[in-house]
Amino acid sequence: MIEVKNAKKTYGEGPTRVEALAGVSMKLDPGAFSFIVGPSGSGKTTLLDILGALMHPTSGEVYIDGKRLSDFDDYQLALFRRDRIGFVFQSFNLLPALTAIENVLVPVYPEGVTEESRQKAAKLLMELGLADRINHRPAELSGGERQRVAVARALINDPVVVLADEPTGNLDSRTGNMLFAYMRNLNKEHGVTFVVVTHDTEYITKDDHVFLIKDGKITKHDHEKILKGHGRKKRPRGIHASRTST
Ligand SMILES: Nc1ncnc2c1ncn2[C@@H]1O[C@H](COP(=O)(O)OP(=O)(O)OP(=O)(O)O)[C@@H](O)[C@H]1O
Ligand SMILES: [Mg+2]
Repeated sequence: MIEVKNAKKTYGEGPTRVEALAGVSMKLDPGAFSFIVGPSGSGKTTLLDILGALMHPTSGEVYIDGKRLSDFDDYQLALFRRDRIGFVFQSFNLLPALTAIENVLVPVYPEGVTEESRQKAAKLLMELGLADRINHRPAELSGGERQRVAVARALINDPVVVLADEPTGNLDSRTGNMLFAYMRNLNKEHGVTFVVVTHDTEYITKDDHVFLIKDGKITKHDHEKILKGHGRKKRPRGIHASRTST
């Protein structure tokens, strides 16, 4: 379904030029649960933005069901993002003036919010442990609660592919486990394809696909070694908290 061929991405020009992706090729198998791992600044968010058509690569191509993304017009791109992709941003990108449920409903606004969509949003928030935070604004929520609002918003349109950037970055291990169990269930029961950027490698299992990215390139990795690394001493929670919090 989504394939990236030799994607390069540079930011800035002259002395501030950064090559964030230095030629990445990858294929997402439908129904797979995939992880993108790698050091800070290695290009994970950039790659996710490209997979979700939020950004075009500087060079290289992205194919959706065999069609070149660069041939899509703005309308087709918007439809693709709205109907097929659920995006969980590393920095949440919640709208501060809206309540939790209103934020979850943002992707529905173009068609108009119905009683049915309101109930669906409330159900998602409830399932993510936020039943009593539905009418709170982002400033009245903890980082982990905001993160789960962002997850609910990504799921409101029943996406085929969920791209999640550090979805457990602000969660304690109990809530993180709960969120992963929820995502695994969507993957198994409903065939939703997941791509998760994470530093929490303990969530990776044997059958998952792993893309290790270093200096903007996908590099070979030893799956067993990543799985074995689970016993390592864990970093303190919140260390990778995003730069902005709404
Ligand atoms: N908008 C931007 N303008 C200029 N440089 C950028 C921009 N966004 C990212 N970069 C740079 O591109 C490189 C890759 O950034 P990216 O956000 O993809 O990394 P990452 O792997 O997601 O890191 P982290 O784990 O810290 O979230 C970094 O060196 C970063 O400083
Ligand atoms: Mg990132």
